[in-house]
Amino acid sequence: MPFNRKDLLGIRDLEAHEIEHILDLAKSFKEINTRSIKKVPTLRGKTVVHLFYEPSTRTRTSFDIAAKRLSADTYSITASASSLVKGETFLDTLKNLEAMKPDVFIIRHSASGAPARMAQRTSAAVINAGDGMHEHPSQALLDMLTMREHKGRLEGLTVLIVGDIAHSRVARSNLWGLKKMGASVVLCGPTTLIPPQIERMGARVCRRPEEAIPDADVIMVLRLQKERQQQMLLPSLREYSMVFGINARRLEKAREDVVIMHPGPINRGVEISPEVADGPHSLILDQVTNGVAVRMALLYLLAQRAEDRGQRPE
Ligand code: CP
Repeated sequence: MPFNRKDLLGIRDLEAHEIEHILDLAKSFKEINTRSIKKVPTLRGKTVVHLFYEPSTRTRTSFDIAAKRLSADTYSITASASSLVKGETFLDTLKNLEAMKPDVFIIRHSASGAPARMAQRTSAAVINAGDGMHEHPSQALLDMLTMREHKGRLEGLTVLIVGDIAHSRVARSNLWGLKKMGASVVLCGPTTLIPPQIERMGARVCRRPEEAIPDADVIMVLRLQKERQQQMLLPSLREYSMVFGINARRLEKAREDVVIMHPGPINRGVEISPEVADGPHSLILDQVTNGVAVRMALLYLLAQRAEDRGQRPE
């Protein structure tokens, strides 16, 4: 069995062959998303609960669309509109939802490790939709699918990740995944936003984007988390943009076939200029399109009980 897990909590846990399997399956699901009737009965009768303790546009919507395209029933819980505001604890919330017999929980939480705690206490599958500064595995998978589609491979690619590496679960999941798949990863950002000893994870660190742009096959720009400025971890946004912002002038030294990625949401004019975000090298909306296919693949693999895994979409 190429993928036989109860949960998806992070990319760190996965083997290269499992990542490959998810990407291949996502590729096969892409065709469903181009049909006029975008629905298959694969997960009919399965129940998927979205539990989002943090805001989300892309992840939440694409998991919901993915589940519905596979005919699962979906229910969405937003922390601010739930009994959490009346003081119910995380574990009590989980116990009550568990009593309704869902098949999959998709959880986003500000605390690193919250999905793992949940996974230990439920027989339903748990998918981490982003936890604190820890991991965002479905984002890294859709990023790798997008890179593989446009470059034909992951092995041997040089991927430059620019921005707030220290607080980025997207950077962490991509670093784990890309290293496992044989890519080289270069990290770049203000020294206050680069975790100490990150090189031990197999990345190279550079001080300025110009040092790494000429060799990069992929430039992944991260959202600048503006709240970090209050924590005195950043110079002014203007200075950040001047030194680390990815704009047309900086890309003059890039390869002709470089691709630009960003997990979103974008701060236009801060970490990325509008002409680059909307320009010919940008794959930002391809990432979003691939997000639905990757999440269909994850739901397909995790929502099915062990005995009926292996069935292909009709
Ligand atoms: N990339 C990402 O996680 O976006 P959302 O926060 O909108 O889900």
